[in-house]
Amino acid sequence: MNKDVVIIRGEKVTDVSARLAGEKEIYIVHDVNVANVAASVAGALPAGVVRGITGIVTSEELKTMDTAVKLTEKFLEADLSRGALVLAIGGGITTDIAGFAASMYKRGIRWAAFPTTLLAQVDAAIGGKTGVNLRGYKNMLGAFHMPEFTFLTSTVLETLPEKELRCGLAEMLKTFLIGDADVYARAVSSGFSAKIPDGQGKNGLPSRKNAKIQDELIFRAASIKADIVCRDPLEHGERAVLNLGHTFGHAIEHCSKGEIAHGEAVGMGIILAARLSEGLGLAQKGLAAGLEKDFQRVGLETACPYGIDELAAAMKKDKKDGKLVLLKGIGQPVITTVKEDDLRKYTK
Ligand SMILES: NC(=O)c1ccc[n+]([C@@H]2O[C@H](COP(=O)([O-])OP(=O)(O)OC[C@H]3O[C@@H](n4cnc5c(N)ncnc54)[C@H](O)[C@@H]3O)[C@@H](O)[C@H]2O)c1
Ligand SMILES: [Zn+2]
Repeated sequence: MNKDVVIIRGEKVTDVSARLAGEKEIYIVHDVNVANVAASVAGALPAGVVRGITGIVTSEELKTMDTAVKLTEKFLEADLSRGALVLAIGGGITTDIAGFAASMYKRGIRWAAFPTTLLAQVDAAIGGKTGVNLRGYKNMLGAFHMPEFTFLTSTVLETLPEKELRCGLAEMLKTFLIGDADVYARAVSSGFSAKIPDGQGKNGLPSRKNAKIQDELIFRAASIKADIVCRDPLEHGERAVLNLGHTFGHAIEHCSKGEIAHGEAVGMGIILAARLSEGLGLAQKGLAAGLEKDFQRVGLETACPYGIDELAAAMKKDKKDGKLVLLKGIGQPVITTVKEDDLRKYTK
């Protein structure tokens, strides 16, 4: 497996074509909601190189082996050789499925990711984890299959709904909280917000005057994740810090029965993890309150609507090895085991 994480940036969607120069066979798999992006990219590539374009409807229910296999059948129909490259354009569902289909076809052909959600730009499309759900269990089938590159451009984010922006922003702040205190401070004061300004059809990204900072923040978050992944590509150790807020987050998602999306739940989960860190004496007093203020400023919901009894019950099901990612401070994650009594006491 190629272990390098390559991230490239562009100002417009067609800038990806420069990185694809020299490719002889490209197959584009895209989310139907960004068909326009796929069409622009295809139009910018030399004639004859694009061997096929398939749009997929995305949902967790359709993130299945069946969908992945159907894609491999398309690759076969297009007579893709082992030298072909699959270009996935869409959110994390698209990059996960298309990357997985590429990993299976002819025992693995190359792929590249063009993420179009903030969450996929800073998280899902970085690191080479690909896969699909099995009988409702998330990402049960999959492969580590590193993309040739991940192409980032914030121009595609303008059409993203608020909820998706919130999810991406929470994961982005998570990455800064574990990886870089200075960038975290910049992010929460940059004007990057998940709120769509009143009366505007679009979310103001990246047309805002501080679009440059936003681009930089996205790149920085993706790079921090990439560095962690490079040090621990198969998730044997350090990569676990990326789960900050996730044990609580998964429990919140579970309790909400789908109402609260993954990233939103992670945002709330980070606040609970910070409270627990303070309670255990790992972090200084005031960490959780400070993060809460920051998160609210960028448009994230911070109050977990569920009590600790409900959460603890859901967490038992999700228990990996009883370990949690906590914070000694901003930029200082620590992985530790927490007793249930402490958990109950400090996350009330
Ligand atoms: N492989 C990994 O390491 C990894 C990490 C985190 C998450 N994931 C996976 O990623 C998935 C979540 O990713 P996601 O949040 O990007 O979800 P998603 O792919 O479902 O995209 C969210 C929604 O946004 C729409 N969309 C995409 N781009 C758009 C755009 N530019 N404008 C308007 N709408 C757009 C999609 O059609 C979809 O409705 C989950 O399945 C999760 O398991 C994978
Ligand atoms: Zn996550």
